[in-house]
Amino acid sequence: MPPRHFIDLSDFTTRELRAMLDAGRDIKARRRTPASQGDRPLDGKTVAMIFDQPSLRTRASFEVGIRELGGAPMMVTGREIELGERESVADTARVFSRYVDAIMIRILDHGQLREFARHATVPVINGLTKTSHPCQVMADIMTFEEHRGSLQKARIAWTGDSNNVLASWIHAAGRFDFELHVATPAELAPSRALQDWASENGARLKLTTKPEEAVEGADCVITDCWVSMGDKEGNRHNLLRPFQVDEALMRRAAREAVFMHCLPATRGEEVTDAVMDGPQSVVYDEAENRLHAQKAILAWCFGQVQA
Ligand code: CP
Repeated sequence: MPPRHFIDLSDFTTRELRAMLDAGRDIKARRRTPASQGDRPLDGKTVAMIFDQPSLRTRASFEVGIRELGGAPMMVTGREIELGERESVADTARVFSRYVDAIMIRILDHGQLREFARHATVPVINGLTKTSHPCQVMADIMTFEEHRGSLQKARIAWTGDSNNVLASWIHAAGRFDFELHVATPAELAPSRALQDWASENGARLKLTTKPEEAVEGADCVITDCWVSMGDKEGNRHNLLRPFQVDEALMRRAAREAVFMHCLPATRGEEVTDAVMDGPQSVVYDEAENRLHAQKAILAWCFGQVQA
């Protein structure tokens, strides 16, 4: 049996993703109850966490999640192993697979991640690349559904840069039945390849350069920082300033709309303090749900969650 990797939401069927989301919800409900004693699919297993980029949420939530599932996390920085420099990515994957039972990896180059997964003989989990951030969007969907009910038929609005989190939201739109309205500057729109993937996969994706248009009547408003990992500043601040989420923009969304941001946020840039700290903000629930969603993903990788 090939290992069950978790690389992109586009690799999965709707049923598989829904099974993982349901498992995450159940794991969260059982946490710190006697029933959670049964949630130990990682008993006796070691999971490597390779970070070639900085992290707070991914690092902490994976480490805690692995421990709570009975496993032992092993933290390794990209600098220590000089990933892709001391030896080939393929050899690194083959060697790691002889020591550990699964590998979570954060690396900018998505091609390198795919290469790593191709040669690993244990499950590999994408902890963020320049191209996608699927663990984040699983936590985001879980958070949306906790606050607003089913994602089906919902209208999700994104305003700001077209980055890795948006790419995973576009993949989600190709798997779940919701509208995704995206406002970006024309220069920073989603790639042609991503737009083509969206149309081939039935995603209800609408692109605009006007944040007010994307947010109008939305059930959820999402943004992210203007300069993501691996980006150069260039003209980003000038281009993205009109895409800031402030109270006036939030008023255009549905009355019960939630505000989401994967964090870390640059307050005063992509979002104001008033929105971040306001009654519609669910950003800390999103951060918490990384833990529960990723425990479900780990359980899926070890065959404990079935579609
Ligand atoms: N949202 C997110 O991935 O946070 P970190 O970069 O802190 O892990």
